[in-house]
Amino acid sequence: MYKKGEIEAANKTSRATKSVGKFALLPRLVRENEDKELTILDYGAGKEAIHTEMLRRYKFHNVTAWEFGDNFDSSIHDTEALTRQYDLVFASNVLNVQQSEKMLRATLEQVSSLLNLKGRFFCNFPKEPNHLGLFLDEVENILQEYFPKVERIKRKYSGRIWMCSNSTIPGIPYPINVMPMTPNGS
Ligand SMILES: C[S@@+](CC[C@H](N)C(=O)[O-])C[C@H]1O[C@@H](n2cnc3c(N)ncnc32)[C@H](O)[C@@H]1O
Repeated sequence: MYKKGEIEAANKTSRATKSVGKFALLPRLVRENEDKELTILDYGAGKEAIHTEMLRRYKFHNVTAWEFGDNFDSSIHDTEALTRQYDLVFASNVLNVQQSEKMLRATLEQVSSLLNLKGRFFCNFPKEPNHLGLFLDEVENILQEYFPKVERIKRKYSGRIWMCSNSTIPGIPYPINVMPMTPNGS
């Protein structure tokens, strides 16, 4: 499904600093707005699956971590992760490290198969790195090919997060109460 070199390149983007941990917006958005009982998959969790651990500390009971290639560690990531379907899948800083449009599409195809009927997929597309040089609208257009409903979460300080779902039934507007956070915590 993926080329070896592409997996290796994506693997190298995993790190444990900067926009990881409490500064990462997408896992915070999940933490602050979602039900702790949901089945959740941290897709492309990174070598140490820091956000899976963070959510578990906040009493999210059903969080699974998934990685591929050399970043997969069976003591951290779940070998069976792709055999189940989830209420919520999130991919933090994952789409922007896809090495080709073909790889991006294979990833989205895989994620869409991991959502249950009511399932939602949260993803972001940070400015850097952007191996494919895609604009946000282009990412959104591609997402729309894989998910019936794609909504950009409007946040005044970024707006680079989407909520995608299989259901086209209108839902309650998403309650956004995420505030920007700076590295010194102010
Ligand atoms: C920049 S890191 C982000 C890690 C973590 N999600 C975070 O926010 O800190 C991107 C990770 O996504 C993983 N990744 C990219 N595409 C993937 C795929 N199709 N399946 C599984 N993991 C993937 C890479 O191996 C890498 O560890």
